[in-house]
Amino acid sequence: MDVSEVIIVSEIRIGDHPILDFSGGKEVTFTFEGEELTGYEGEPIAAALHAAGVRILRYSNELGRPRGFFCAIGNCSECMMRVDGESNVRTCIEPLREGMHVERQEGKGDLSARM
Ligand code: FES
Repeated sequence: MDVSEVIIVSEIRIGDHPILDFSGGKEVTFTFEGEELTGYEGEPIAAALHAAGVRILRYSNELGRPRGFFCAIGNCSECMMRVDGESNVRTCIEPLREGMHVERQEGKGDLSARM
């Protein structure tokens, strides 16, 4: 990670808010596409990825177009990723935990993994 990316990461997290508390919590390590990243335990996976500069969370089903945060409340499917081998996890509402393996998924993901 170069210096310009570090600056972006520090600017994207909300540190001070008049109503909400974003104290962060325990820092945890997880992997994205095999690269080790850090985030805060319990924050949405997509938020940790966003803070690390990752904007593309998956690729659309038919045209393979890049997709990222859209509703951020679990109502659409734009943030679905493969997490610890399970496809179609809505990462905008899935809490980050130590050691998670997160990958982008293409299309509908591997549906056989749920059976
Ligand atoms: S961004 Fe819509 S479900 Fe996650």
